[in-house]
Amino acid sequence: MRPRLCRMWVVWAGAALLPAGCSDAFNAGPPRYVEQERLTTDFKDKPVLQGKVRAALAKHFGDAPNEIKVPEGSGLPLGGAYLANYVKQGDAVKSIAYVPATPTSGSSDPQPVEGGYGLYRKHCLHCHGVSGAGDGPTSSFLYPRPRDYRKGLFKFTSTPTGAKPTRSDLRKTIEYGLHGTSMPAFEALMSKAEIEQVIDYVIFLSLRGESELSLIDEASTSDEKDPEALSEDVVKDIIQSVAKKWQAAESLVMNPPTPRVEPTHASVMRGRELFLGLNKTGNKVECAGCHGPQAVGNGPTFVAQEVFNHIVFGGNPSAMPERVAELEKSDPKAYELWKTSLDEWGNPLRPANLNRGIYKGGRRPLDIYWRIAKGINGAKMPSHFPTLEPDKIWDLVNFVLELPYEPKLLEGAKLPEALPAAKTAGNAAPTASESIARGQGGL
Ligand code: HEC
Ligand code: HEC
Repeated sequence: MRPRLCRMWVVWAGAALLPAGCSDAFNAGPPRYVEQERLTTDFKDKPVLQGKVRAALAKHFGDAPNEIKVPEGSGLPLGGAYLANYVKQGDAVKSIAYVPATPTSGSSDPQPVEGGYGLYRKHCLHCHGVSGAGDGPTSSFLYPRPRDYRKGLFKFTSTPTGAKPTRSDLRKTIEYGLHGTSMPAFEALMSKAEIEQVIDYVIFLSLRGESELSLIDEASTSDEKDPEALSEDVVKDIIQSVAKKWQAAESLVMNPPTPRVEPTHASVMRGRELFLGLNKTGNKVECAGCHGPQAVGNGPTFVAQEVFNHIVFGGNPSAMPERVAELEKSDPKAYELWKTSLDEWGNPLRPANLNRGIYKGGRRPLDIYWRIAKGINGAKMPSHFPTLEPDKIWDLVNFVLELPYEPKLLEGAKLPEALPAAKTAGNAAPTASESIARGQGGL
């Protein structure tokens, strides 16, 4: 029975990528949202609250992906009309098989709309999963893992730490992909209008997932017997507050206050000093503590590369928990470091090797400026603005962009004495957590 159902899924997904076979989500007939684990584990003895969370999600977002509802005040273009070609608004099913083209398509003629859901199912679902949990059938074979949108946390943004991405940040990720990862570029596969539709759907899934998390948080502080718990007003407030964060992002873009400093040798050398923490002007910069003195991504605040490679790549991906358990027994210190070498989603994380000239979030000077100024959400890379003046950030940008062409820039460089980790490099659990806590600033 399984193989037959699996084949059905192959047809749906356009047979794009199937090394992983079928996950249970695909064997169960029509696609269903996957619930947050906490809804069953934390609410074992609270069936009423559990039911209220489920009912709230079904009421405001629809029961299943092929029965989409759009919550009031979602902020999505045309009230979410591009999410699919059968969006429910209130109790009415609104067929939108034909709606005017989105403004970006450059044509005012009516065009057929597949809708964000159809496009997502075809191009994204096998990695990002039905609920946007990053758990599609291909996902367990990928490093890094596809994004789980449900935390509402996105890495490559132009907005301050922790803020939502703008539509244009998402557009860039989807059009050009994330270099050095399996996240593909869709520029050639989808029209501009289709990319806008899939952006709507990613926002929809993130809005749904983050609302689900907030509803679970609210339920966990509520009384099972209180009839007012998770009342309609509370539910609406929760969803609205998530939606408002998405709407706010558009006006939060952190454009550099000063133009790029000329990438002269002097600027590159100033950036190098900052990178190595040698700058004596009172700015405490700790890039090398994570990226390593040669910027290969092996700083002492992360678990040693060999240990990382063994755990992440040393066998069947599904047996990773067993390899971690072995490490806990055989090398408790390395195990402590391993635990701090995970991202906010609990996935293994490595600082970038800056000698390769491959940047996930784009290679324009402005992209690197954003990465350094506002950090990478969920990935421990901290923000440096306004601690560092914009000119110094530009010096760092100039240094980072020069390094792949001038590997000698960091030849023989060492971590500064001031970093206690330098004394016991590679073996410094307390220092690591201290330094990461410093670096985490506001994630
Ligand atoms: C082959 C697997 C794969 C496919 C297919 C795929 N993605 Fe991804 N996607 C990834 C991975 C892996 C990441 C995370 C990379 C990382 O964190 O370094 C990612 C990350 C993202 C992010 C997060 C960016 C950020 O700033 O955090 C978005 C948004 C995204 N993908 C959208 C899409 C959309 C939309 C589609 C379909 C049109 C799609 N992806 C298809 C693998 C995939
Ligand atoms: C606390 C650890 C930490 C510190 C401190 C840190 N980084 Fe990072 N950095 C990371 C991690 C982890 C990544 C990889 C994130 C990912 O792949 O999702 C990264 C990625 C990057 C990238 C690649 C961005 C991309 O688009 O792929 C650049 C460039 C970078 N860091 C520069 C710097 C500079 C310059 C500094 C100092 C001003 C710095 N980092 C400080 C942890 C750190």
